Amino acid sequence: MSRGWFETVAEAQRRAQKTLPKSVYMALVAGSERGKTLQDNVDAFSELGFAPHVADLARERDLSTTVMGVPVDLPVLISPTGVQAVHPDGEVAIARAAAARGTVMGLSSFASKPVEQVVAANPRTFFQLYWSGSREDILARIDRARAAGVAGVIVTLDWSFSQGRDWGSPTIPQSIDFRTMLKFAPEAVVRPTWALRWVRSGGLPDLTTPNMALPGQPAPGFFGAYGEWMQTPLPTWDDLRWLRAHYDGKLMLKGVMRVDDAHRAVDVGFDAISVSNHGGNNLDGTPASVRALPVIVDAVGDRVDVVMDGGVRRGSDVVKALALGARAVMIGRAYLWGLAANGQAGVENVLDILRSGLDSGLLGIGRASVRDLTRDDLLVPDGFERRLGVPGEVGTGAGVPVQSPAPV
Ligand SMILES: Cc1cc2nc3c(=O)[nH]c(=O)nc-3n(C[C@H](O)[C@H](O)[C@H](O)COP(=O)(O)O)c2cc1C
Repeated sequence: MSRGWFETVAEAQRRAQKTLPKSVYMALVAGSERGKTLQDNVDAFSELGFAPHVADLARERDLSTTVMGVPVDLPVLISPTGVQAVHPDGEVAIARAAAARGTVMGLSSFASKPVEQVVAANPRTFFQLYWSGSREDILARIDRARAAGVAGVIVTLDWSFSQGRDWGSPTIPQSIDFRTMLKFAPEAVVRPTWALRWVRSGGLPDLTTPNMALPGQPAPGFFGAYGEWMQTPLPTWDDLRWLRAHYDGKLMLKGVMRVDDAHRAVDVGFDAISVSNHGGNNLDGTPASVRALPVIVDAVGDRVDVVMDGGVRRGSDVVKALALGARAVMIGRAYLWGLAANGQAGVENVLDILRSGLDSGLLGIGRASVRDLTRDDLLVPDGFERRLGVPGEVGTGAGVPVQSPAPV
C-alpha cells in the first residue's frame, strides 16, 4: 500500500480540503445557488437499494465494456474538468492514471495541459468542446484534437453561465503575477504540501487554456477563453448537424436531461449521450442525473451509448447507474479530490476504490459481468425517476414549449 493511500472517496475529499488553498478547494466544490442539484446528485444514489444473494455467485466478474466503440477495463470514465491550480501535473497525471486503470480520459477544452501531451499519456482520450467562437474556430480546435489522435469528441452544452452560490464563490485571479502571489500567499502558506509541489515543479499555477488557442495565436487565459464562450451565439440543432457533418469521428453530447433532447441528439447522429447536469453546477433545481437516466435509456438506449455523470462517489453507485441502463459512468469531483490528495497515485486510488466497490456489488448481486446488470437487481423506490421532456406527458418539464427539430 503506497504512502498517501486512502480508503474512500470521502477521505480523498477530506485530504483535498486539507491540502488545497481554500480558493482552489472551493472551485472544486463548485455547485450553484443553494446547491440542491449538487446534493441531489449524491443523495439519489442512496435512495436505491440492493437485494443480495448468498449462493451461486459469480466466481469471476468482468468489468469491461465499450463506450463509443472504445474498449475500457472499467466502466468509469474521467469526465472533463479544468484543473488549472490543483496539481502541477494536472490533466497529464489524470490521463496517466486513467491509462493505468484501462479507461478513458475526458479532456476539457479549458484544461491546463495541451491535448497532444494528454493523448501521449492516454490514447483513449475524448476531447471536450464548448460551443465557443466561430464555426471555423470550432473546426480548428477539433482538427487539432483529431491530429493529436483523440478517440472521440464530447460536446458539452449544458451551461447557463449562472454564478452565485449561497456559500460563496472562490476568487479566481485573471493571471498569476507578483501582486496575485502576494494576495494569495496567506492561503498558500497554510497549505505547504500544495505550495511545495508547485515549487518543485518549477512553475506557478498557470491559468492559460492551451486547447483554446487558435492556429498561430497564443493560448488565451481562462477569462479570455470564458469571455469568448459567453459571447458566442448559442448553438442550435442545426449547428450540431453541421458539426456532425464536419467531424467523422465518435461524438458524445454531454448534458442531456430530457427525453426530447435525447431523441434529437440521436437524430443528429451523436454516438453517445451523457445524462448530466454538469455536476450540479448549472441550473439549480434540475433533478439528479441518475433520476433522469432510466427514461432516457428506455427512449434511446438501443440506438446510442448512454452514459451518466453526477454524484458518483462509490463503486456501488456505479452498480446502480449500470443497473438502470447506463453503459458507463463518468466522474468529476472524485478524481479531482484524488489528484489533490496524492497526484496520479491519488487518481488511481479513486479508480481502484470504484473498481473494487463495483466488483463487490456484482459479487453480492450475483452477476458475472457489468453488462448483465438489470433494473431487477435494484430496489427502486416509488417516485424515484424523473421523466423530463417525455412527449405527451404533463408536469414533467414536457410542458415547456420547444421547437420541433428542423428536417435534416
Ligand atoms: C471543478 C469542475 C470543473 C468542471 N469543468 C468542466 C468542463 O470544463 N467541461 C465539462 O464538460 N464539464 C465540466 N465539469 C462537469 C464534469 O465534467 C461532470 O459533469 C461533473 O463533475 C460530474 O459530477 P461529479 O463531480 O459529482 O462527479 C466540471 C465540474 C467541476 C466540479
